[in-house]
Amino acid sequence: MSTLSVDVTQNGSVKSMESLCSAAEIEESDFLRLLERPPRPLNIERHRSCDERSLSELSIGLSPYPTFRNADNSSRFMDHLDVVFPLSPGRRSGFNTPRSQNGFETQTHPMVADAWEALRRSLVYFRGLPVGTIAALDSSEENLNYDQVFVRDFVPSALAFLMNGEPEIVKNFILKTLRLQSWEKKIDRFQLGEGVMPASFKVLHDPVRNTETLMADFGESAIGRVAPVDSGFWWIILLRAYTRSTGDSSLAERPECQKGMRLILSLCLSEGFDTFPTLLCADGCSMIDRRMGVYGYPIEIQALFFMALRCALLLLKQDTEGKEFVERIAKRLHALSYHMRSYFWLDLKQLNDIYRYKTEEYSHTAVNKFNVIPDSLPEWIFDFMPTHGGYFIGNVGPSNMDFRWFCLGNCIAILSSLATPEQSTAIMDLIESRWEELVGEMPLKVCYPALESHEWRIITGCDPKNTRWSYHNGGSWPVLLWLLTAACIKTGRPQTARRAIELAETRLLKDGWPEYYDGKLGRYIGKQARKLQTWSIAGYLVAKMMLEDPSHLGMVSLEEDKQTKPVMKRSSSWTF
Ligand code: GLC
Repeated sequence: MSTLSVDVTQNGSVKSMESLCSAAEIEESDFLRLLERPPRPLNIERHRSCDERSLSELSIGLSPYPTFRNADNSSRFMDHLDVVFPLSPGRRSGFNTPRSQNGFETQTHPMVADAWEALRRSLVYFRGLPVGTIAALDSSEENLNYDQVFVRDFVPSALAFLMNGEPEIVKNFILKTLRLQSWEKKIDRFQLGEGVMPASFKVLHDPVRNTETLMADFGESAIGRVAPVDSGFWWIILLRAYTRSTGDSSLAERPECQKGMRLILSLCLSEGFDTFPTLLCADGCSMIDRRMGVYGYPIEIQALFFMALRCALLLLKQDTEGKEFVERIAKRLHALSYHMRSYFWLDLKQLNDIYRYKTEEYSHTAVNKFNVIPDSLPEWIFDFMPTHGGYFIGNVGPSNMDFRWFCLGNCIAILSSLATPEQSTAIMDLIESRWEELVGEMPLKVCYPALESHEWRIITGCDPKNTRWSYHNGGSWPVLLWLLTAACIKTGRPQTARRAIELAETRLLKDGWPEYYDGKLGRYIGKQARKLQTWSIAGYLVAKMMLEDPSHLGMVSLEEDKQTKPVMKRSSSWTF
């Protein structure tokens, strides 16, 4: 056994990780030990007022990523923050919102005030209570469904409100969507699973009767008629963020919330014909909600699945009904982390191994387990792969590896600790070395690279909205800035987040908060991008607030489960 060897270069970034562990050893890592634990009370961290938080206690302080200490024992991480304000009790996060009176207006970027104003304008009320935010306020384009509250779109809004000390709207949203979940859902004559959460909902006003009703879409109105697999996962993740941020565990403990969670979990933990622990899904069932070749086992869903399972483990009561789920979750996490870390992971060494794969192997001894044909390796991957770095590829299935890089999946892998600390470091190394490709002039590419020509025709079905380097096909989405920032903070690289935020600040407000940008460098406002897109606004605010007060990271980040921490051993077969 040897310890982890970390080579820290002058600028403080980690360049090589040498002594590592084998896949078999990861298998030994043990979510299963959870099963042996006696029933325990709900594991919810005690809420502390802002002033009680100290940087040294934050996840970053305790994290496995290198923190750099100066001679005076201050951490170099702190030096990357412009100003670290002492937080006083009850004070909001130091942001210039129309409602906050914190006296720090001069320190914040002028865009922040504009963003808060726009975010508040996007609020949607139901019978007098704020229950969500509208997807886009743009009135110049046809509405389609952008006048609805999307579950996934509301997540950055919710985080912004939580960070600003305004949890009520988040609570209202959680309870309202929970009620929608209990609706009977049908597409034509087919009834959807009980646990399905809506993709979006809308408040309908009847001016004659002066009443308000809700209308929800579970996929039956969505383009392509796909149910949103991600909604339920985001709902659980948000419930944990609310609990963590407010210290109010009573919401999660409510019988209806516990039931809602169990219903979502029964959908994705049910037994079937699966041979993999990953979740099989249809194309377009998450943020990329149109045909883009993300069916099968897309990383975006697997990472959210992993994170939601971990959050549920923290929130579920171990009563008669909950206990069974806790056990099933623990088993699934054990298998899922092994599968993802072993088969979805790609770095230079792994790429070279695949390049040299033999095919048509049979039986347990097969090295090329999924029978991936080396000729199917795309040309671009050989240039894209840096010497130091790696990422979770887009998809792994029978004779299929989708090598595309997806932003959300990789960031969520870092935040949920699906990625080991070494893998997280490698993901960040890759983002930094491929900055031009992935960030360019506007953070951040939803996926890389774009599908072109024949591939675009076959894979998207000639989708005119998803042409190369546009929209879901290699477009740049400002909302992803909050995920990048959170991942940067978790891995001790706030300067990288700052660089991305500064890029966004050169254009976002001026361009009217577009939904997405087009082009290889993200230089053009997207072809059909909505303006005043709420999650572009909220994503920016969350990124800013998190960078100013990194303790917010705890809301969306889970530390590596010590039970799953691989035993570090020197091995030549493992390269991250
Ligand atoms: C588009 C996006 C989807 C988003 C919706 C509302 O359909 O693909 O991810 O939720 O717009 O903004």
